Amino acid sequence: MGGAARPAASSKPSAPAVPTGDHDRVSEPIPFTRTEASSARDTVDAPLPGAPAEVKLGPTGRPMPVLPEPKPVSSHGPARVIAMCNQKGGVGKTTTTINLGAALAEYGRKVLLVDFDPQGSLSVGLGLNPHDMELSIYNLLMERDVTLDEVVVPSGVPGMDLLPSNIDLSAAEVQLVHEVAREQTLARILAPAGKDYDVILIDCQPSLGLLTVNALTASDGVIVPLECEYFALRGVALLKTTIDKVTERLNPRLTIDGVLGTMYDGRTLHGREVMERLVQAWGDTVFHTVIRRTVKFSDSTVAGEPITTYAGSSAGAEAYRQLAREVLARCLDG
Ligand SMILES: Nc1ncnc2c1ncn2[C@@H]1O[C@H](COP(=O)(O)OP(=O)(O)O)[C@@H](O)[C@H]1O
Ligand SMILES: [Mg+2]
Repeated sequence: MGGAARPAASSKPSAPAVPTGDHDRVSEPIPFTRTEASSARDTVDAPLPGAPAEVKLGPTGRPMPVLPEPKPVSSHGPARVIAMCNQKGGVGKTTTTINLGAALAEYGRKVLLVDFDPQGSLSVGLGLNPHDMELSIYNLLMERDVTLDEVVVPSGVPGMDLLPSNIDLSAAEVQLVHEVAREQTLARILAPAGKDYDVILIDCQPSLGLLTVNALTASDGVIVPLECEYFALRGVALLKTTIDKVTERLNPRLTIDGVLGTMYDGRTLHGREVMERLVQAWGDTVFHTVIRRTVKFSDSTVAGEPITTYAGSSAGAEAYRQLAREVLARCLDG
């Protein structure tokens, strides 16, 4: 197996220990032909052994496209609404909402983040105290006389606002069951924001219940963050079924904008295996950008700010800027 990583050896008949022949060079799947040494150095830029030198393979095993520098915008709206969705907890939904939002705001886009998880992690991650909130998204959902402007707060990042939530939102899920058009409630309250923002990102709760169905009904696209570990693909079929049902019955414009590999560790065979399966299962839906595992994300949450400001030149911040460029190229500027 190791011989495949040294293609030059096959042209030297004097090296009998190395198997020769084409078979050895072409049959290996991409992630496994790399030696540990080369992957530890840098999996982003490591070329596939035997591939032409100029083809740069990204961490997903596909050639990395050139992502254009986003053009500045002179006016804002209409917004694309994107739900960050996976019923599994701890996969990076909230982290991606904060940091993708902050990176898009750095590129001059006007961004509204919607905390749609009663745990309120998005609000806390941006430095808000859940007990101090006068109004939250709960009031907007349940009280007809409350307007969006009254509830939206600045996020601390220029160009990015927040619709905060706290545990009150869990009551909304119960109360909404009795409402007419209960699945369309979030879409209705977000409608006035569409003209003021370029992107609205909804941070979903880790379930496929009524709140998540509301988020999908209000959205143009879905981003599915998936932790790069073995069990990540379990449950994805159920998520896909839910997205398909919402598309069919409630919101025909809904599309999957992308699947994002998070907490990736390219130094381990395991990480690369999971990434390969992800691409096998989802093809080009998988973003070329992957988010590597780093403690900087937990640190920035404690600091109550995005990694793009907390550690602006870190690899994590750079990864989310790259994701922002990819999202812009894929579904916003295109
Ligand atoms: N790429 C990463 N590397 C390391 N830790 C991460 C990464 N992304 C998120 N985390 C951490 O993992 C935990 C769960 O992430 P979070 O975004 O809250 O997931 P979710 O919203 O899907 O439940 C948080 O403590 C967060 O700081
Ligand atoms: Mg979360």
